Amino acid sequence: TSASATDPRELLTLAVEAAEHAGRLAAEGQAKVGVLATKSTPTDVVTEMDRAAERLIRERLLGARPGDSLLGEEGGASGGSSGVRWIVDPIDGTVNYLYGRAEWAVSIAAEVDGEVVAGVVAAPVLGEVYTAVRGQGAWCAGERLRVNEGVPLEMALVATGFGYAASRRAHQARVLSEVLPRVRDIRRAGAAALDLCALAHGRIDAYYERGLNPWDWSAAALVAEEAGARVGGLDGAPVGPDLAIAAAPGLFEALHDLLAPLGADTDGGDGR
Ligand code: IPD
Ligand code: CA
Ligand code: CA
Ligand code: CA
Repeated sequence: TSASATDPRELLTLAVEAAEHAGRLAAEGQAKVGVLATKSTPTDVVTEMDRAAERLIRERLLGARPGDSLLGEEGGASGGSSGVRWIVDPIDGTVNYLYGRAEWAVSIAAEVDGEVVAGVVAAPVLGEVYTAVRGQGAWCAGERLRVNEGVPLEMALVATGFGYAASRRAHQARVLSEVLPRVRDIRRAGAAALDLCALAHGRIDAYYERGLNPWDWSAAALVAEEAGARVGGLDGAPVGPDLAIAAAPGLFEALHDLLAPLGADTDGGDGR
């Protein structure tokens, strides 16, 4: 098995299987779910299903590949020495999930030696599964995805999201007040991974958010990149907790230059 041990296509197959299985479990439980606990703030919630879905994913991935590491939003990190690390958001869009909305997804990325090489974002209620392998394009329902190109900032439909921390939110509101008058309109769907997939799909033109964690972006950023998006942070930095910006080249730079002078916020992150 050693030749194929880190074959991105095989990693993707396993990830898709785990994501679809966890997605089915979560979809079946959505109607009767309630809040199990709160995390960074009273509105930063976790449900029993966030944890159950992550447990299922962890068992499936590490059951098949016991030497791998895994970083999950709900379960933390566990180590292995194979060079493969899984990055898992069992339910991205927990608040939507809790409110019986459709916009939530299971997100799984496979990293080999620190680089994301494959990713899946599965949205069971929407009936959409987004996949990407580095260098092999981004796909949904058998269709190769492509971002919208040549859209000027003032015509761009821009998605964003807001972290849970109160200190972060005041800053996000100020940033939004600068962005909104400069673009076509704003969307706030409630699931960062699906925002990046919507960008890949041409359903929005650009996306930005502060305060994300690797499980929010890892799989979906690859989907967006493989659909032709530029994805990054401020001043050439890679996407990180400070800022994630994603759009076709050209629009990326315009949005970056609008956001850059608006400054960092005062809070380090939502943690988990
Ligand atoms: C959240 C969603 C939301 C984004 C938040 C994330 P969660 O993830 O992606 O859209 O605005 O920053 O924390 O908690 O639902 O997995
Ligand atoms: Ca969460
Ligand atoms: Ca998330
Ligand atoms: Ca989550």
